[in-house]
Amino acid sequence: MASLLSLVFAFNLIVMMSSSLPTTSSEAFAKESPMFVSPKPMEKITQLHFYFHDNLTKTNPTAMQIVAPPKGSVGGFGATYMMDDPLTEGTSPSSKLVGRSQGIYAIASHQELGLLMVLNFVFTEGIYNASTLSILGRNPIAETVREMPIVGGSGIFRYARGFALAKTYLYDPKSSVAIVEYNVSVLHF
Ligand SMILES: *[C@@H]1O[C@H](CO)[C@@H](O)[C@H](O)[C@H]1NC(C)=O
Ligand SMILES: *[C@@H]1O[C@H](CO)[C@@H](O)[C@H](O)[C@H]1NC(C)=O
Ligand SMILES: *[C@@H]1O[C@H](CO)[C@@H](O)[C@H](O)[C@H]1NC(C)=O
Repeated sequence: MASLLSLVFAFNLIVMMSSSLPTTSSEAFAKESPMFVSPKPMEKITQLHFYFHDNLTKTNPTAMQIVAPPKGSVGGFGATYMMDDPLTEGTSPSSKLVGRSQGIYAIASHQELGLLMVLNFVFTEGIYNASTLSILGRNPIAETVREMPIVGGSGIFRYARGFALAKTYLYDPKSSVAIVEYNVSVLHF
């Protein structure tokens, strides 16, 4: 029994050895080689800073309600808005435009003012022109600083992941204008 086992073992060894015999490149169907990982870090971190302008005024609004809160809703629960809000370098709406925030926000919390944010930042500045970052997150707007996840990106921001910190710079309920400061940190290739 033992001699049979060792015979099988020896046979397998011969098969294994012969299969690793070198073949000329013209005969090779597939070729494996060890992978050398680049010692250079390939992922980058980019930090962006801008101001978001949400203007719900009657004339030329940048955002508008697309779904009214349903009957019986308390605190506007369910109200949904679509925005195409400018992003600028400075706090003034007339400062340099660096991109836009396009997407939806909706009142998604019964307890406090918690918004569901589903949006794309599309940038227009320099090398970032036409690149996008996508946010899918929760925005408890009564808190001083809100954190929202960056779940992806395109263009320069392919494979992006990261987070955005948002802080209200100005909120004027009379004119329904909000200006929000954003710091965005993203890892990408
Ligand atoms: C909001 O939009 C109105 C109408 O376009 C404009 O007059 C007003 O200056 C805007 N406010 C801000 C703070 O952007
Ligand atoms: C961004 O790209 C668009 C289309 O490719 C082009 O028309 C526009 O001039 C570019 N803007 C900047 C600031 O480079
Ligand atoms: C953004 O970063 C700047 C500089 O570090 C800081 O002064 C500001 O408070 C930050 N804002 C937010 C919303 O994180």
